[in-house]
Order: sequence, then C-alpha cells, then structure tokens
Amino acid sequence: MNNIYNFNAGPSALPKAVLEKAQAELLNFKGTGMSVMELSHRSKEYEEVHQSAINHLKQLLNIPDNYQVLFLQGGASLQFSMLPLQFLKKGKVANYILTGAWSEKALKEAKLIGETKIAASTKENQYKSIPTLSDIQLNNNDAYVHLTSNNTIFGTQWTEFPDISHAPLIADMSSDILSRPIDISKFGLIYAGAQKNLGPSGVTVAIIRDDLLNENVDHVPTMLRYQTHAETNSLYHTPPTFAIYMLNEVLSWVNQQGGVKEIEKQNIEKAKLIYDAIDESEGFYKGHAEKEARSLMNITFNLPNEEQNKRFLTKAKELGFVGLNGHRSVGGCRASTYNAVPMEACIALREFMDSYRKEHS
Ligand SMILES: Cc1ncc(COP(=O)(O)O)c(C=O)c1O
Repeated sequence: MNNIYNFNAGPSALPKAVLEKAQAELLNFKGTGMSVMELSHRSKEYEEVHQSAINHLKQLLNIPDNYQVLFLQGGASLQFSMLPLQFLKKGKVANYILTGAWSEKALKEAKLIGETKIAASTKENQYKSIPTLSDIQLNNNDAYVHLTSNNTIFGTQWTEFPDISHAPLIADMSSDILSRPIDISKFGLIYAGAQKNLGPSGVTVAIIRDDLLNENVDHVPTMLRYQTHAETNSLYHTPPTFAIYMLNEVLSWVNQQGGVKEIEKQNIEKAKLIYDAIDESEGFYKGHAEKEARSLMNITFNLPNEEQNKRFLTKAKELGFVGLNGHRSVGGCRASTYNAVPMEACIALREFMDSYRKEHS
C-alpha cells in the first residue's frame, strides 16, 4: 500500500523530508564513505551530530542555561525508576499526580524505591480530566512532584502547570514534548521517549536543572545516575547514534517549519478538524476526554457500540488509515496527531469520519 495516513501512537509518523534525507545519506554520510551508523561515537563527524541535536533542542525549547540536555536509553519507562533512585531519599515522599496509565506506572516504580503519595488523581473519572491546580495536595517533605503532561492512552493534556517551589516538579512529556512552547523553568526534570514527536525509538531525552545534579547518588549504579551522563555530555557509553542522528534531523525540520510556536498552531488546527468531526456528529462519535482536558496529540473517541467501533476501524484500515485503534487496555478509537502527521492526513480523517457517520447513523 503506498498511500497511507499514519496515526500511530508511537513509534509514529516521521517527517517525510527527514526520511528522504536519511535515505540519501544512508550509505555515505557527509563524504565519510560510510553510514552514520558505522561511525565511531568518538569521531568528529558523529560528535557534530550529537552536539547539533543538543543545541537544536536548547534553542527550540528555549532551555535556560542552568539546564542540561541528556540523551539516555531505556525509554521513558527506565526514567520511572531512575528518577526515584536519584531523588527519593529516606524521610522524603515522592508525590505523584495520576492522570492515566503512564502516571500509574511511574508511581509503581517509585513505590519499589521508597515512600510515595498521590497528590491528586482523576482515576475515579476514568481519567477523562486533569486535576485542577487547587486539588493538588502538596507536602513539606515532598521529594518531588511528578506529572504526565499528556496522557497518550486517555487523550488528555495539561494546559497549565502548577507552580511548585518546595520541591522539583518532574514531568513525563513523552507524548507532547516539542508540540507547544513550555516554560522549562517550572520544572526540575523533564523526560521523554523520542518515538512520538522527536524521532525514532531508542533515545530518551532528559532536561535536568543543574542543582539536581548535585544530589548524593553514591548508592545509585553508575549508568542510572543523571550525573554520569551530564558529566560526559551523554557520551559515557555508546549512545544510540542513529536515533540521535534522526532526532537531529527532526529538530532541523521543526526549525524549518518555523519552530515550536508554528508547530503548535498547526497542531491546534489538525486536532480541531477531528474534534469538530466528533462534536458535529450529534453523539455518533463520543470523545473520551472532557472538552477542557482534550489532548492536541491523542484524540480518543468511541462509536455508539463495540460492533460499530470494529466496523469503523476495519473500514478505516481498508482506506489506508493506520493506527486508529485505541490502546489495547481501553479499546475504542484513537487518532494520534503528532507534529509529523500532515494536515492532509487529518483532513482525510475528518472527511472519512463525516462520510462514515452519514452512512451508518
Ligand atoms: C506518556 C508516556 N510515558 C511513558 C511511555 C513509555 O515509554 P517507553 O516505551 O519509551 O518506555 C509512553 C509510551 O507510549 C507514554 O506515552
């Protein structure tokens, strides 16, 4: 099949121009006579790619000088363990805001390390919403406060982040990093697996404030310390060089699009197309998220019953729409409209949703 619309939740669509450039450079990277995958990670050519990716991220996300950008492995899932290992000390409590399955998983790992608490949760509401800032319970002995900025499975997203000064605010931004401008200075640590908005899977980005690198971490295995990677510019060991090369290319592409503000504008327009199809369907499509909590990245919805969900997904697949099924834990439908998903794909989905509804309601 040649003409597909990729709505995968992650790994997900990459910009076509980036794939084409990678293809053109695959066998001979910048005159080296070899692929970027074959270069030493200590070579001048690779180091340029590595540094360029760091610089691009700093510039695109407007990262203040007192933060370091790290390239790690193990996905966002390893961050669930790495961060409590580092920051959850005896006598302190790790405070988690639960807004979906990924925040639950993050909490589960912290529980293995030390004492935890739930600052707020929207579980009782089937994770259809985001807690209001006044619902978040903070404590003097918080080691840190953790939230998930975008809930990939339930399709909700924070629009305003709490101002927290008594402890570092830590955010899993795996599914919305680089989709909109963020005030980095509100956070002590931000982490994200690359495979949604940043590039292919294999590299995890962490943005960490300098003072958090001064923790005593003698008890933490070397590879699991942020310090280790910060002190070596993420070259302590062999980094995932091809994934970082792709990340650098995706970041250049975002730059060419006009940067994060422009990308956000496009994301708002793309998501609106699909939310409009839901809102104008007279209840045929039912969005999972409450309107104020709707994600611009993952749009979750159901048809009137399971049978209809299945028929809709089958027809969509026939027409070349890929990845529209909801996460296996919740079912239903989900369209992931990350940065690299083109406007045409969202227009096509909107048109399909309209015509399917007219035929089947
Ligand atoms: C918000 C969020 N956090 C964490 C993860 C897990 O990421 P990884 O597979 O990189 O460990 C995902 C994966 O989809 C996610 O969406």
